[in-house]
Amino acid sequence: MMMALTRSLLCMLLMLPLALWAQAEQEQGCLQCHTLQVSPAVHGIFANHHGAGKNGATNNESSAFCSGCHGASEQHRSDPLKQLPDIRFGDQASSPEQQNAACLGCHKGQERMAWVGSLHQQEDLSCAGCHSLHSAQDQVLSNGQQADTCFGCHRDVQAKSHLPSTHPVVAGQVSCSDCHNPHGSPTPSSLTGVTLNDTCFSCHAEKRGPFLFEHAPAAEDCGLCHDPHGSVNRDLLTSRTPFLCQQCHSAAFHPSQLMDGSGLPSGSSNMNLLGKNCLNCHSQVHGSNHPSGGRLTR
Ligand code: HEC
Ligand code: HEC
Ligand code: HEC
Ligand code: HEC
Ligand code: HEC
Ligand code: HEC
Ligand code: HEC
Ligand code: HEC
Ligand code: HEC
Ligand code: HEC
Repeated sequence: MMMALTRSLLCMLLMLPLALWAQAEQEQGCLQCHTLQVSPAVHGIFANHHGAGKNGATNNESSAFCSGCHGASEQHRSDPLKQLPDIRFGDQASSPEQQNAACLGCHKGQERMAWVGSLHQQEDLSCAGCHSLHSAQDQVLSNGQQADTCFGCHRDVQAKSHLPSTHPVVAGQVSCSDCHNPHGSPTPSSLTGVTLNDTCFSCHAEKRGPFLFEHAPAAEDCGLCHDPHGSVNRDLLTSRTPFLCQQCHSAAFHPSQLMDGSGLPSGSSNMNLLGKNCLNCHSQVHGSNHPSGGRLTR
């Protein structure tokens, strides 16, 4: 009786590791099946930051490396035709939460501090919706090509980028991410600066001042007069002068009627109307440092 029990116990002790070993034999390494010949696209990852050894992994050809994003995928490894990997990004993708959790495991913090709660997160965007992980060059990280990814969803911004006055976004000199953090930020519209104006000052520093005579709206919000995405008017202005100015200055020192065409033709045109672009005289519309620049004329 005792003998039988010990024998079966011994047996079990021996069999357990054997069974585990046998299972491990069936589960092949990812790259044993996803060879360069069978899945050439997969091997692009060895040409970017993830696969090229910068991620601290000792061996990027090990399955542990692939599992970092796709999960351990044991079932897939033993029966690939019936079982999909644990985490999928492409056609039969896992939920955005599952996908993004895989990335955020390594990429929480820094620029992605505000990801949770950002509009993109709330709208169920996935990291891989913008980033390509298996190619040598991630399009969304390249100034010249980034906008193509964004335009796929933001058609209105795309349309404005072709208006006569724009930031050179399509030309690749300015990118969306110069002004926006696509992973979210505490600023409305996920801007990169602490405020809208600070975002602009990172390139247009001369508009920051300090000025002896400030123009209140310029100190407050550049967006009161400019549409950063594009405009039919010169200098990205939201409206033409003098109408731009007259949105706020209806009853100033000057006659208070709207400076439209009603005073024309000739006979009645007064000197306030002709040559009446406010900027002809008030050229320092962003602020003045001239001792007598109080009226922003110099
Ligand atoms: C035994 C061979 C084998 C192993 C090992 C294997 N795969 Fe696969 N894998 C396949 C085959 C075959 C397909 C295509 C299945 C299909 O199209 O239905 C596939 C498909 C995939 C896909 C695409 C799934 C989809 O959405 O269509 C991913 C991602 C993937 N494998 C990742 C991995 C990862 C990561 C590992 C290692 C953890 C791994 N594979 C190990 C054979 C294997
Ligand atoms: C850093 C995250 C990450 C790592 C590491 C990673 N993948 Fe992927 N994988 C992805 C993403 C994201 C996709 C979706 C397509 C894309 O973005 O390129 C994908 C797609 C795939 C596909 C489907 C390709 C297709 O064209 O349908 C296969 C197969 C695959 N991965 C296998 C692997 C293997 C094998 C490894 C290890 C050598 C690996 N992946 C490592 C993130 C990763
Ligand atoms: C195992 C940890 C790990 C995982 C998981 C991971 N990454 Fe990374 N990733 C890294 C490291 C490390 C770098 C290199 C950072 C560096 O060079 O500063 C990096 C770099 C990047 C970069 C910058 C690449 C460049 O060329 O500058 C992007 C974008 C990125 N990862 C996106 C993702 C996305 C999207 C996922 C999920 C699909 C993901 N990562 C999953 C560790 C990881
Ligand atoms: C709406 C598109 C979009 C989505 C969604 C997105 N990213 Fe990015 N990501 C970008 C762009 C654009 C950049 C380049 C930013 C720059 O140059 O400042 C970037 C840069 C990065 C970088 C490299 C910058 C650095 O920190 O060094 C990492 C890492 C990264 N993203 C990870 C992620 C992760 C993780 C997710 C998902 C939680 C994600 N991204 C979702 C567009 C996106
Ligand atoms: C020069 C800076 C700048 C650049 C470059 C820029 N934006 Fe913006 N964007 C802004 C500002 C400022 C706002 C906020 C406007 C407001 O609140 O009045 C904004 C608002 C937005 C909004 C919120 C809703 C809307 O349409 O007003 C979206 C979406 C957007 N931008 C997408 C993009 C995309 C996509 C790109 C690249 C093609 C881009 N932006 C390039 C500055 C910029
Ligand atoms: C898969 C679709 C998709 C892609 C790709 C995409 N966005 Fe968005 N984005 C959205 C949706 C949906 C919203 C929320 C509704 C809206 O404002 O249009 C949004 C909102 C925004 C906002 C407003 C955020 C806020 O906090 O108010 C900005 C800015 C923005 N996106 C910039 C970008 C930039 C820059 C890119 C490219 C790097 C990009 N988006 C790529 C779908 C997308
Ligand atoms: C990443 C740098 C950068 C940021 C940030 C930036 N700009 Fe610009 N801005 C430029 C460049 C580059 C030009 C084009 C200059 C040229 O063509 O000579 C430009 C041109 C302009 C113009 C003149 C457009 C024209 O038709 O000539 C205006 C107005 C302007 N920016 C306003 C803004 C406002 C408002 C903001 C903040 C919402 C802003 N910019 C943020 C780089 C930037
Ligand atoms: C009260 C309306 C108004 C506000 C507010 C305003 N601007 Fe302007 N901006 C103009 C007008 C009008 C022009 C064209 C006349 C000129 O060249 O000064 C202009 C031209 C520009 C130009 C292109 C010409 C140049 O001077 O370089 C830039 C860049 C610019 N503004 C940036 C800004 C920034 C940055 C802010 C926010 C700090 C801002 N503007 C706020 C009215 C405004
Ligand atoms: C969004 C509203 C707004 C717009 C648009 C606007 N302004 Fe102003 N402007 C103000 C405010 C507010 C003051 C400060 C008035 C005060 O301090 O009494 C001011 C002050 C001025 C002053 C100095 C007046 C004084 O009493 O010192 C001049 C000159 C002026 N603006 C010209 C212009 C011109 C020219 C334009 C068009 C390019 C323009 N403004 C567009 C709101 C605006
Ligand atoms: C022909 C030159 C000229 C034109 C054009 C002009 N202004 Fe003036 N404006 C002046 C001068 C000069 C003063 C200062 C008068 C003074 O200090 O007594 C002034 C003063 C002002 C003031 C301050 C008024 C006050 O009560 O102190 C405002 C606001 C103003 N202008 C707005 C405008 C607007 C808006 C336009 C376009 C519709 C415009 N100006 C067009 C020359 C001009």
